[in-house]
Amino acid sequence: MTVVTPAGKLTPVLSDSWDKEQGYSLESYRRNGGYQGLDKALRMERSEIVDLVKASGLRGRGGAGFPTGLKWSFLPPDDGKPRYLVVNADESEPGTCKDIPTMMGNPHVLLEGIAITSRAIRCEHAFIYLRGEVVHVYRRLLNAVRELEEAGIIGEGLGPNGDFNLKITVHAGAGAYICGEETALLDSLEGMRGHPRLKPPFPAVAGLYARPTVVNNVESIASVVGILNHGAEWFGAMGTEKSKGHGLFSVSGHVKHPGQFEAPFGITMRELIEMAGGIREGHQLKFWTPGGSSTPIFTAEQLDMPLDYDSCSQAGSMLGTRALQVFDETTSVVRVITRWTEFYQHESCGKCTPCREGTYWLKQVMLRLEAGQGQEGDVDLLLDIANNIAGRSFCALGDAAATPIKSGIEHFREEFEAGLTTPARELFPYEASAVFARATQKEGVR
Ligand SMILES: Cc1cc2nc3c(=O)[nH]c(=O)nc-3n(C[C@H](O)[C@H](O)[C@H](O)COP(=O)(O)O)c2cc1C
Ligand code: SF4
Repeated sequence: MTVVTPAGKLTPVLSDSWDKEQGYSLESYRRNGGYQGLDKALRMERSEIVDLVKASGLRGRGGAGFPTGLKWSFLPPDDGKPRYLVVNADESEPGTCKDIPTMMGNPHVLLEGIAITSRAIRCEHAFIYLRGEVVHVYRRLLNAVRELEEAGIIGEGLGPNGDFNLKITVHAGAGAYICGEETALLDSLEGMRGHPRLKPPFPAVAGLYARPTVVNNVESIASVVGILNHGAEWFGAMGTEKSKGHGLFSVSGHVKHPGQFEAPFGITMRELIEMAGGIREGHQLKFWTPGGSSTPIFTAEQLDMPLDYDSCSQAGSMLGTRALQVFDETTSVVRVITRWTEFYQHESCGKCTPCREGTYWLKQVMLRLEAGQGQEGDVDLLLDIANNIAGRSFCALGDAAATPIKSGIEHFREEFEAGLTTPARELFPYEASAVFARATQKEGVR
């Protein structure tokens, strides 16, 4: 594992084995030092593991950036009854695509992270909640869990004191964005329809089957392995003061070579775009998202801003899941935001009125602006609806739906106004922004 720490360089830790021959197998993982972190964890006190992860500064990689070790320490004192670890592998935000390649390329780093975390919190049954459409990843995880059981790395009465018991269940969800919200995920895992729960109580107190539960993202749990192997200082030497460590930055869209770039937090978008071969030939950057469709958009002005949690929020957005979607000048902002709005409307679980009704309404207005059939006052109407959804919905999906509308209008109001008279396809022909030529592409096909 070669790690170069200064910002601007890549730090392949989780992605290091992705190009190795059968790098996903237990044999290959062990050949490269796999499961040594677990061996170490099994010789440590539980509290020592939690303290180590706290000291590393690891923050949750699922979007909000909550400190991982601190979250584990919120579990109430052990009463000897079940406590659970649930890994959030739902990954459904438009643009987000880091957990699926991690699980496909290196499933054992996640499983080792699960075993270490389970040891730290005394969990004997851990779950991976995976988006069901990714059948290939589901199979890979099932296979990796079987390999672990057969090798006697997980099971009953293991470890130097014979007190390490662990079963891992991989659960394939039915494919709903709301099931990535941690409490809706727990409802779904319990066999119910995925609806967010009222908090408090937080999952740490009453989560799966009303028992203390840690819910963490795939990348958060996978990152624990390196911390056990190399220590908190090693981890903290990468990144910035408040956003430590390495992270997967997923660059997609109008760049020459889209892909995953594992780098220290604090790398800039300019550096990442350079590594991705630059904006496609003959074009210029128009806007980009730092963390998926639910994070306010940025323009060329933020290209040199360090990609860390604090810098992003000071600049008015969020680092989210580091889903860096790049759009050049051929892109219609109205068209992109209409697609995102359709997604949020479709994925709204319907539990609360502002989001259930508001996303539907937003979609209607966006569709008519896209078609060049907007009505007088539509742009202000969009802002009014978005402001009545944001901060007034039961969960953050409502905020996510309102965000692109508000930030799109803030940066490109004239394009929304143009939707009163001119269809987006006339202002920005599809062919110009398409990345791949499609034989079936016809006038009027979205
Ligand atoms: C609508 C919605 C979807 C979410 N989807 C995911 C997801 O797919 N994966 C994920 O890790 N977190 C997702 N989250 C965040 C989770 O609720 C939770 O904060 C996260 O799993 C905590 O893990 P972390 O502390 O390791 O980041 C979502 C939140 C919302 C509101
Ligand atoms: S904000 Fe949307 S997704 Fe969240 S509870 Fe309300 S209706 Fe459901």
